[in-house]
Amino acid sequence: MRGLRTKVAAVTGAGSGIGQAVAERLAEEGCRVAVLDWNGSGAQATVDRIHKAGGEAIAIVADVSDEPQVKSAFEKIVEHFGRLDILVSNAGIFSAERDGKVDDLPKAVWDEIVGVNLTGMYLSCKHGVAAIKATAGKGAVVLTGSPTGMSGCTPANIAYGSSKGGVHGLSRVMAVDHAPEGIRVNVVVPGFTLTPIVRELVADPKVYEWQVQNIPLRRGAEPAEIAGAVAFLASDDASYMTGSFMFVDGGLTAI
Ligand SMILES: NC(=O)c1ccc[n+]([C@@H]2O[C@H](COP(=O)([O-])OP(=O)(O)OC[C@H]3O[C@@H](n4cnc5c(N)ncnc54)[C@H](O)[C@@H]3O)[C@@H](O)[C@H]2O)c1
Repeated sequence: MRGLRTKVAAVTGAGSGIGQAVAERLAEEGCRVAVLDWNGSGAQATVDRIHKAGGEAIAIVADVSDEPQVKSAFEKIVEHFGRLDILVSNAGIFSAERDGKVDDLPKAVWDEIVGVNLTGMYLSCKHGVAAIKATAGKGAVVLTGSPTGMSGCTPANIAYGSSKGGVHGLSRVMAVDHAPEGIRVNVVVPGFTLTPIVRELVADPKVYEWQVQNIPLRRGAEPAEIAGAVAFLASDDASYMTGSFMFVDGGLTAI
């Protein structure tokens, strides 16, 4: 893909799943990558995989819902690489057991999920966009959205769906605000993606079959299939795209 070689990219939630695949793909495309996660061993594992493949990466441990940690993380990235061109704001949590319907969801669970998935994206974008503006001047931001932010396709997950709806709103306003500065903002919308926790949940073939019955391609995505779309949105091949939503969902939202 065009324009990724030698760029510096920060990927949040890159210690596992989609974020890990994105970090690896951007490194493969020639980016130098900051692998940000609150799980230090996960972040280091991603860095080790990138190094093994001949790429360049550093691990940064931070909780995206904590502003001092996020601010310091982006300071460390700029100190290490001297610049930031690309932000992939991806860290998120999902809990089918603890999330629920609005009339019986404890506020603490709402605060935790919205705090990571929406406030965490706002904080990563706040300090990430500031770092891009102060160093590279222009660049690209990709946020990880969800079909649950567009429809009620995952019932009894009110905090998660609301947080993702918020991410979609955040991205649209950011796209308009930062277009004049040359910073593009787009959203990748993954469908059912086989990240470690999802693989565990659907280990039983009957549960997997039930999950994929309404997906036209009749299977879940590999994280690398989402990563390709993210790399495209971050690259110069997507130079006329901002405020867009790219669905990588096997046709789920086409129904
Ligand atoms: N897997 C799916 O089916 C699916 C579908 C649509 C959207 N998504 C979204 O994709 C993104 C990645 O999810 P995934 O499936 O790869 O999950 P995952 O659990 O495999 O990876 C999430 C990573 O984010 C990190 N993280 C969580 N909270 C954090 C915090 N407060 N600070 C820093 N790091 C934190 C975790 O440690 C983990 O490494 C999330 O935003 C999720 O909502 C996933």
